[in-house]
Amino acid sequence: MDDPIDALLEEHALQRGVFGALDFETTHLEQGPSQYPFWDDAVLFLREFVTERHRRKEEEVLFLLLVQRGLRDRGGPIGIVRAERADANDLIQALGAVVDERRPDAIGPIWRECTALLRGHLQREESFLFPPARQLLEPVDLSRLQRGCARIDREADRLHPRSELVEIASRIRSRWRVREPTEDKIRPHGNPQ
Ligand SMILES: [Fe+2]
Repeated sequence: MDDPIDALLEEHALQRGVFGALDFETTHLEQGPSQYPFWDDAVLFLREFVTERHRRKEEEVLFLLLVQRGLRDRGGPIGIVRAERADANDLIQALGAVVDERRPDAIGPIWRECTALLRGHLQREESFLFPPARQLLEPVDLSRLQRGCARIDREADRLHPRSELVEIASRIRSRWRVREPTEDKIRPHGNPQ
């Protein structure tokens, strides 16, 4: 079995690569409407990968397992990252609206707020949730995490196949030659090797 926490970390790396490309892109918004397909892709990735597929794996599976092993559900690290996710969802919704309206003046400020929040959010998960997960979760929990993540991948695939979202991420990164991470490190949960 692949380590399901490693797989979540790989998804964080995929997200950081996209965020890095979007950071570059916001400095070139004056180039005009040719970049809108890029932002349409970005919003799709943020909605379907960041705030849907990946978020569900942590909220619906990882956090529940951590609470069962004694971590506080309210307050503490889980409460903090939940609150951040609500803020991030609002920002991504706002970003989607200004991209739909083709308002380059509004995209940059919203994305800069969004990237600061999302990067801090990933860092806090890696500092305050994944280490306790490695300490507290028993092998049986890791199996449940693996199966739960695989189920969510299958469900999310019905809307947008994972391979399509990884391809979108690759397209976004390649525009600015953001090299992190390599595609071969990104694999779905639950595929037996
Ligand atoms: Fe995460």
